[in-house]
Amino acid sequence: MNVVTVSDITKVYNTGMQKGGITAVDCVSLHIESGEIFGLLGPNGAGKTTLFKMLLGITGVTSGEAMLLGYPPSNPKSRERIGYLPENHRFPEHLTGLGLLQLTGNMYKLDKEIIEKRSAELLELVDMTKWASTKMKKYSKGMLQRVGLAQAMINDPEVLFLDEPTDGVDPIGRAEIKNVMQKIRDDGKTIILNSHLLSEVEMVADRVAILQNGKLAKIGTVDEMTNKKLQYEIQAEFRETLFDIPEEIGKLQSLSRGRMVVELVDESKINWVIDSLRRKKIDIRVVKPIKITLEQSFIETVSSGKEGVS
Ligand SMILES: Nc1ncnc2c1ncn2[C@@H]1O[C@H](COP(=O)(O)OP(=O)(O)OP(=O)(O)O)[C@@H](O)[C@H]1O
Ligand SMILES: [Mg+2]
Repeated sequence: MNVVTVSDITKVYNTGMQKGGITAVDCVSLHIESGEIFGLLGPNGAGKTTLFKMLLGITGVTSGEAMLLGYPPSNPKSRERIGYLPENHRFPEHLTGLGLLQLTGNMYKLDKEIIEKRSAELLELVDMTKWASTKMKKYSKGMLQRVGLAQAMINDPEVLFLDEPTDGVDPIGRAEIKNVMQKIRDDGKTIILNSHLLSEVEMVADRVAILQNGKLAKIGTVDEMTNKKLQYEIQAEFRETLFDIPEEIGKLQSLSRGRMVVELVDESKINWVIDSLRRKKIDIRVVKPIKITLEQSFIETVSSGKEGVS
């Protein structure tokens, strides 16, 4: 089931400063499935926050269509089952962590008992129980983000929108937030995440989309993004020039004693290579796809700048 469907969505901000306005999101189409962690990536100003804001009904859509849990964002029903951790949020510092959760619960008009019960559960989930009665002005950035995650979940949402949840958080704090996100996903919820920290997104996300200048530059699973164009490494004891690889199979990228790299036309062609090696009685030790990091994939996409949706 899709929790988010976006078709040709566009946002133009009319600032009066620039003729024709600023096109922040430009004809983007994508869907997000229930139960996945979906990462929205892109350089500064690519349109990530604007896309969030359109989905959440915070800013209007210039053209195209968005559906969130079966409703257009302009329908308040679409927001009943979602949670949101905004970018650069400013929670009232005089409140305690528990106070913030109570305030958010009241905004959702939840019963007092439900707020009490869920606050206790959520503070436990984000490992903030022992800081529940401490004022937020004493919290570190990591603690603020954890309590921010908890407030985003007070209404037991099905979908969580997290805009830069680990921004400014140190590595230990980030690891804790990553664990909480995984627990939330394991609980059957959908997480839609904006982040600059690609190594983190790589570890936690199921699928990612890269936005660039408001356009969708690339979308796919983390695996698809990090597989280097169907290149495989084969480790074996190669003693001689082996065989020519026909064009319809792929091409040899490099061959040295012990290591061969081939680029294939499609995945299934690896069988042809293995069969050919085995016919020559070569002992194969390892066959593995060559991977790049999500960061490398991101940089390649963004610097090529004109890649179509793949
Ligand atoms: N309220 C606004 N009025 C006018 N222009 C805006 C407004 N909000 C965003 N923009 C512009 O729209 C573009 C996209 O901004 P947006 O904040 O969506 O990008 P982003 O990908 O979230 O960036 P970052 O990584 O810095 O958070 C930018 O050019 C930005 O200056
Ligand atoms: Mg942003």
